[in-house]
Amino acid sequence: MASGPFLLSFLLICSALSFHFSNANLVLPVVKDNRKSQYYTTFLVGTRPSTRVYLVIDLANHWSWFACDLYGYNTNSHEVPCNSPKCDRYATWNFCSGNACGAVAYTPWWRNDLYGGVLYEDTMSLYNQTQQNSLAHLSKVYLPNLPFTCADKGPLKSLSPHTKGMVTLARVPVALHSQISSTFKVARKFALCLPSSTSSGYNGAIYFGGSPNYLSKSLITTPLVINPKSTPPIFDEDVTSIEYFIKVRSIKIDGTPIRFSSSLLSFKEGVGGTKISTTDPYTVLHSEIYKTLVNVFVTKATAMKMTRVASVAPFGACFSSKSVVDNAETGPTVPIIDIIMDGKSPLLHNKNARWRIYGANSMVKVSNSVMCLGFVDGGLEPATSIVIGGKQMEDYLVEVDLETSKLGVTSSLLRMGTSCSKFKGI
Ligand SMILES: *[C@@H]1O[C@H](CO)[C@@H](O)[C@H](O)[C@H]1NC(C)=O
Repeated sequence: MASGPFLLSFLLICSALSFHFSNANLVLPVVKDNRKSQYYTTFLVGTRPSTRVYLVIDLANHWSWFACDLYGYNTNSHEVPCNSPKCDRYATWNFCSGNACGAVAYTPWWRNDLYGGVLYEDTMSLYNQTQQNSLAHLSKVYLPNLPFTCADKGPLKSLSPHTKGMVTLARVPVALHSQISSTFKVARKFALCLPSSTSSGYNGAIYFGGSPNYLSKSLITTPLVINPKSTPPIFDEDVTSIEYFIKVRSIKIDGTPIRFSSSLLSFKEGVGGTKISTTDPYTVLHSEIYKTLVNVFVTKATAMKMTRVASVAPFGACFSSKSVVDNAETGPTVPIIDIIMDGKSPLLHNKNARWRIYGANSMVKVSNSVMCLGFVDGGLEPATSIVIGGKQMEDYLVEVDLETSKLGVTSSLLRMGTSCSKFKGI
């Protein structure tokens, strides 16, 4: 759906109500591939001629990469030289490829396929969003130095067919948000607004440097924590993980805490803890957490007269849709799952911060008559005990603030008249 000529109009309409932005925001659109449950963005790379690329958003990759040949992208004169100060600064994992700085292309799904290559740098386009009445206007701005590498077809096999690469927002200097912050001198933060559907077009966004006030004023925050050990596929003894971890204290279902060993919530040699991931379509839980979550959810759901039906893989608890009432604001009326996190929130009268998951984000429609609890079993030895996946982040603003080292989540779903953005004319 995302091919062909478009982007003719750069009008951005913020839905309904007249929000006021006091500031300008740098932004890129986000689209969901419903079939693959992947979220991707698009921008132009290079000048005269420029190449439009479609890249899956990843919070874990060491590098951004795309299949340059398939896009007809010309790499001429864009190499970052080896042993240059820039190469030293960019590399968390330093090596050279001939006379050029080295980089590796891989996907989180094909971790054994690492494609070593050259690190390039070129101009990319994004938008500056400013506000006039209830309409937000977009003007193009150019980042002169997006670092990326080129892949061949190998790592593409698990990606959305609309895309030919990935863009990284991990905790690395070559990540897009790091480049934007240092080049445009904006705050070191970015926010994801992953859309829940494909049908309405480019309705998600990534904001850089800050989010529109109407979205960021209702953020519940928790400290980001550093996992002292690197996480797969690239291990390095002395390097901390480049992913975004938070400290979860408990999980409650309709107010009832579920029971599991709390040691799963801390790191032991880098294993355990909780991270966010845009490349896992559903939250993946350590088996012990998963089993108790399903049990308590089913008990509460049964008490609400929800009818359980045969499970549909990969899910472990499915229900007849007829037995569930739909609510326009929060989706199917099902038991509410609260992820209780470190830190107190003024928005919650100084109670512990929580990520509240309503039916819209907990239930997956697998057919017209069946919906399932959208969490999956990660087995008994996952690297990370709780991986908060895409489905659970959809229609929330999830902000990674590296200035204050905090993760923020909007206190409620952005549904009733408050969507992230709508890129019109794409
Ligand atoms: C975005 O627009 C605002 C308001 O016009 C301006 O002050 C700011 O410099 C622009 N940002 C960039 C990166 O061009």
